[in-house]
This record gives sequence, C-alpha cells and structure tokens, in this order.
Amino acid sequence: MTPSDVKATLSFSDGSPSIELPIYKGTIGPDVIDIRKLYAQTGKFTYDPGFLSTASCNSSITYIDGDKGELLYRGYPIEQLAEHCDFLETCYLLLYGELPNAAQKKEFDARVTHHTMVNEQMQFFLRGFRRDAHPMAVLTGLVGGMSAFYHDSTDINNPQHREISAIRLIAKMPTLVAMAYKYSVGQPYIYPKNSLSYTANFLRMMFATPCEEYEPNDVLVRALDRIFILHADHEQNASTSTVRLCGSSGTNPFAAIAAGVACLWGPAHGGANEACLNMLEEIQRMGGVAKIGEFIAKVKDKNSGVRLMGFGHRVYKNYDPRAKLMRETCHEVLGELGLGNDPLFKLAMELEKIALEDEYFVARKLYPNVDFYSGIVQRAIGIPVSLFTAIFALARTVGWIAQLNEMIGDPEYKIGRPRQLFVGSPKRDVKPLAQRG
Ligand code: ACO
Repeated sequence: MTPSDVKATLSFSDGSPSIELPIYKGTIGPDVIDIRKLYAQTGKFTYDPGFLSTASCNSSITYIDGDKGELLYRGYPIEQLAEHCDFLETCYLLLYGELPNAAQKKEFDARVTHHTMVNEQMQFFLRGFRRDAHPMAVLTGLVGGMSAFYHDSTDINNPQHREISAIRLIAKMPTLVAMAYKYSVGQPYIYPKNSLSYTANFLRMMFATPCEEYEPNDVLVRALDRIFILHADHEQNASTSTVRLCGSSGTNPFAAIAAGVACLWGPAHGGANEACLNMLEEIQRMGGVAKIGEFIAKVKDKNSGVRLMGFGHRVYKNYDPRAKLMRETCHEVLGELGLGNDPLFKLAMELEKIALEDEYFVARKLYPNVDFYSGIVQRAIGIPVSLFTAIFALARTVGWIAQLNEMIGDPEYKIGRPRQLFVGSPKRDVKPLAQRG
C-alpha cells in the first residue's frame, strides 16, 4: 500500500477535536481512507452495512472496474485469458501470481490430475443424504467433510498444508460435484481418468456410465472450461469475504471453503444462474417472447418482489465482461449441438434487448451479469439446472483459496471482527415469570 500525500480530515460539529486520517493508493482503483485508529482516537465506529464503501483488505489478485465493465486476474483482462488460456493455467495464475511457462504448466496439470480421486469413504458419507437433496446442500457437507479425511493438510498457518489443501480442493471438487450428480440420478460413480484434461475429465465423470464410454466433445469442453475461467475469482464478493472471515479464525482450509460454498448458494449470488434459468422457463411457459412485456412490468413493480434474474450487479454498472463472453459461448455451443433455434436462448436475447432499452434498467445501470447466459450453455451441455451453482462453486474454489492464502500471508492479517451500532434495549433486570405481563 502506497501512502498518499493527501490526508483526510474528519471534523465534528459538536466541538470534538478533528483528526487526520491517512490515505493509501492502490495500483489502480479508488484510494482508501485508513480508519483503523478511528475508534482509539474518537471512540466512534464507522457504519457501512453491506460494505458499500469499505475495503475489507488489500489484495493483488483480481481487479474489477465496474464502470468500464473490466475484469482483470493478476492484471490480465478476462477476455485474453478466456481466449488464450485453459482453466488450470488460470488457477496457476490466481494462486502464484504469474502465468505458468510450458514446464510449470505440465507439472501443475500433473499435480492436479494426480489428486482427483477422493477418499473411498466419501461415498459412504454421500450415501447418508437423501437422493433428492439439493446439490449445494450435499456439496457444503462434502467439502466441510474433507477436513475429516485429509488430516495432513488442515493447519492453515503451515504453508505446505495450505499448498497441498489447495491442490486437493481444486482437483477433487469436480469429482465431488460429479458424485453428487450421479448419486441424485441413481447411477454409479465414475472414477477420474488421468489421460483427460481437467474439464474433459469432469464431463466424463458426469456423463459416462460403466456400460457406455463418453467421448468429450471439444466444443463443449472448451465452453465449460471457459465457464470455469469466468467464474474463477471476483475479488471481495460475498462468498470470498465469507471464506476470508471464516479462515481468519484459523480454521482449516476445507472448513473455510465449505463456508464459501454455503454463501454462494444464495439466489442473490451464485444461485442466480439457477434462478435465471427457472425464470426463463417460467416466461416460456407463460407464452414466451409475447409475454416479456408483462414480465418486465412485474419486475418494475416494487410490490411484486420479482427481479430480473441475471441482471444487475453490486460492482458492474456496465455490461459484465463475463456476460459478453458467455453470450459468444452460447452461440458456439448451440451451433455445435444444432440448437440454433433454442427457444430459451431466443427468449433471453429478446429479454436482454428489451431490458437494455427500458428506462427502469437504464436509469439503474442494470446490465446482464455472467449468470444471464451461463445457464443456457450449461443446460445445452446436459447439466441439470439444480447443479449450476455447484459448477460455479467448483470454478470459484481456486479464487477462494488464492484469497485465503493471500490473507494468511499478509503480515497485517487479524481475525475479522466487525463492530455494530447497538439499537436494542439498554441494560434492564429480569422479572420473575409471574410478574411478566
Ligand atoms: N431486477 C430488477 N430490479 C433490480 C435488479 C434486478 N435484477 N437488480 C437491482 N434492481 C434495482 C433495485 O430494486 C434498486 O432499485 P431502487 O433504486 O428503485 O430501489 C436498484 O436496482 C439497485 O439495486 P440494489 O438491490 O440496491 O443493488 P445491489 O448492489 O444491492 O444488488 C444484486 C446487486 C443483488 C446482484 C441485484 O442486482 C440482484 O438481485 N440481481 C438479480 C440476482 C442476480 O442476477 N445475481 C447475480 C449477481 S452476479 C454473481 O453473483 C455471479
């Protein structure tokens, strides 16, 4: 953090002495006012529910310019990574700060590939769930459960433990997601196959059966790999902040990542891709394109509680760059599968067009986010809607780990402990039961 020449002065209208607060500059993006000594100097806290103006940490991993619609991983634009790199190269970049050279890539790919099997006991744990359990409920349990299986990598303060738990989590997540899927449809689990790429292996574990081999289609592999790249990290979003806060207590990495999975599940975050596809299907059932106007009117009516899922973002106040890439991928996948006339895709494009021209959305700078098209791609690949958020969790695991490791390595790291503005009852005495009205 570079100190700025400029300082902020905080003054009070009640005559209390004003104080000077240091300002730090990042490499890009807004400066921050350092309020760490505010309480000690003034006896006051800041108030910022939802963290609208609060930088919770300093980080050198991911940068978003929400006004420009720009997303950089370690300085590289997401568009270039999506075009020139595969998901494991992106993982390497997020974890270690630089893109791998050919030898580093080979070594990293081999390490991840050789950690894809999960402890055989995991299947018995999985068997305890109802077959109709939501995959995110299962995944939260399985990821948390990993700490019960890999005791040699649970010390978050030990760099070797952090390294091996990172590789294990990245490698085993596809196996766990595929197992959760196979369990839900009553099919046998398919073991990983080391000759396949990370993403081709995942598709095979999902769709092969012992009776029939599955030949991964290159276009679909590339599309899913791109989905993984686009979801790999997104700076201090709700689930990443959850992982950091959870990990800040010194808990083990598997437990911290399980907390991230749980947070991601919510419909305002990772659950939006599932909610978005359900919404498109609902409009389709209502009558499709002809009913868009009626649906948009409902969205604009604040009393309806209906939101246009896949639209809007806390940080992007412009087109989400990931949504643009996802739209392209959508064309490629539907073309490859001969689904160019897919009614849901047509509906999504029409809905997007109408919303982008509507004053309600224009005034609020509401644009499509990554979830608007990713569901259509996943559905075309054959992934069930209920698994979408688990796929997101699989991809985001690397971001969570990179952010967690960055936090633990930061000399200024402390347990996260927000304060509050207390508005409840002041101190009072308990009355015996008979005297309470
Ligand atoms: N549909 C309709 N109106 C919306 C939408 C939407 N999708 N999103 C925001 N608005 C409106 C709000 O009602 C509010 O209007 P007002 O100023 O008249 O009260 C205004 O736009 C600002 O919205 P907030 O909810 O205050 O913005 P916030 O930053 O808190 O919300 C969020 C961001 C949660 C993503 C929101 O846009 C949303 O719910 N979108 C739909 C869910 C979704 O797609 N989530 C995916 C996010 S991306 C991801 O996690 C990968």
